[in-house]
Amino acid sequence: MNALHQDLTKLVKIVEKASKKESPYRLYFHLMPPVGWLNDPNGLCQYRGRYHVFFQYAPFDVRGGVKMWGHYVSQDFIHWEYLGVPLLPDQPFDCHGVYSGSALSDDGNLELYYTGNVKFAGDFDYIQTGRGADTIRVVSGDGICFEKKQVVINHTAYPQTYTCHVRDPKVWKRGKLYYMALGARSRNSQGSVLLYQSENKIDWDFWKEITTKTAFGFMWECPDLFELDGAVVLSVSPQGLTGEKYRFQNLYQSGYFIAKDSTGFISMDKVLDKAQFYADENDFIEWDMGFDFYAPQTFLDETGRRILIGWAGMPDVEDVYDNQPTIEEGWQHALTVPRELIRKENRILQYPVEELLSLREEPILLQQGKEYKLQERTFDLEIDNPEGTSIVLQIEDETFFSYDAEANMARLGFVGEMGRGRKLRQAKTEKMFHLRVLVDTSLMEIYINHGEIVFTTRYYPKQKESTWIIKQGGAENRLYLLKCRESVQQMVGKGGFT
Ligand code: FRU
Repeated sequence: MNALHQDLTKLVKIVEKASKKESPYRLYFHLMPPVGWLNDPNGLCQYRGRYHVFFQYAPFDVRGGVKMWGHYVSQDFIHWEYLGVPLLPDQPFDCHGVYSGSALSDDGNLELYYTGNVKFAGDFDYIQTGRGADTIRVVSGDGICFEKKQVVINHTAYPQTYTCHVRDPKVWKRGKLYYMALGARSRNSQGSVLLYQSENKIDWDFWKEITTKTAFGFMWECPDLFELDGAVVLSVSPQGLTGEKYRFQNLYQSGYFIAKDSTGFISMDKVLDKAQFYADENDFIEWDMGFDFYAPQTFLDETGRRILIGWAGMPDVEDVYDNQPTIEEGWQHALTVPRELIRKENRILQYPVEELLSLREEPILLQQGKEYKLQERTFDLEIDNPEGTSIVLQIEDETFFSYDAEANMARLGFVGEMGRGRKLRQAKTEKMFHLRVLVDTSLMEIYINHGEIVFTTRYYPKQKESTWIIKQGGAENRLYLLKCRESVQQMVGKGGFT
């Protein structure tokens, strides 16, 4: 450990300790930063039985700043332990930020791969010139201490047709070989993935580029390439797509392509074949239709589940919507809950890992049209709606979510202060027969039909207790209080609970 690493570690501990303890909007079952800013999930893996979740972390500045990696571990996705900041910007090649990357559990070690962000001093545009983005590898024998960072791809070695925006290595093993996918922006502003190959994890050869035939956004961040239930999935976070009424409603998107050719789904061998493979932009499906979702990453756990975690946030939108209430509490953003992925034909379903069910207390049946004054702000609402009738959910007399059965349309949005500028997001759906809403104080994840469509959003109810009404409900509406809630709080049902 160099002296800078030691000093930074101490400083982070000091600001974490000094952070405001009063946080009415803090979260109870989502990972949030101990203090300051959080963005992408990084280094997701299960290593020696424990789940590791690293994250982009800027503890000194609640609005972002120089990034490092924070580190959480868990045995069960329920109880999390914060282990501090293993990767700090303490080297010339990562001095302006330890950017996003991934983990590889291999040879008994936990290896991390990330991008070292460096902005050279001078008159640069920092797109075509002026930036270093080396790919760096760090190996740990215990999953806790990460020493001896090693540059494995120098930024000058990326293909010459690319700008300095090349980052976010996702590394995996296949047979005897290792592969790495990097997100990139070409010199003519086309988003793509650069694929590298290695036999020893130190020498990486450029293998091929994966992109669309015509530009689908100017930059693809945080790529991921994996097999799921017999198909190959390419997940990317494109920037620069033009917004449409029902698609691309956020500033930046994240979604996936299932690899296909004219004969149907194609195998990983074919995708990795040296021959050119184009993703078809018409196949792109967004992971999440809410206001706050970006830069997800997946990993395979020891039971064989493919699990996705996203950043429940959106960069560069402060002038449209924001998180002022948590900024005032000295922190901003969170990660989504872990979601298990299952392929259903051309779509991927995302559903909270089943471990989260263990948080539930006994169900309370809610009646349609009655007002429930909830002092709890963490709960899990589940609606069975076999007839596929319309659903309307309100908080404080304000409809924030609805499913319109005639139009087959789901809508999420806020009119008042509660949304802090989050106006409307809408998605076309199939008949909605099931709805699940995970509510965690100021963050909500809404799952339609077991994850066919998902909306993630922040929201900021004014009062500590808020009134929920199922204005129009399904055949059965069950509310589960969660065991992780703040001390023992009582719940007062205005209309009475059954
Ligand atoms: C995505 C991203 C990544 C980058 C990181 C920096 O949100 O821009 O491309 O590595 O965040 O924090």
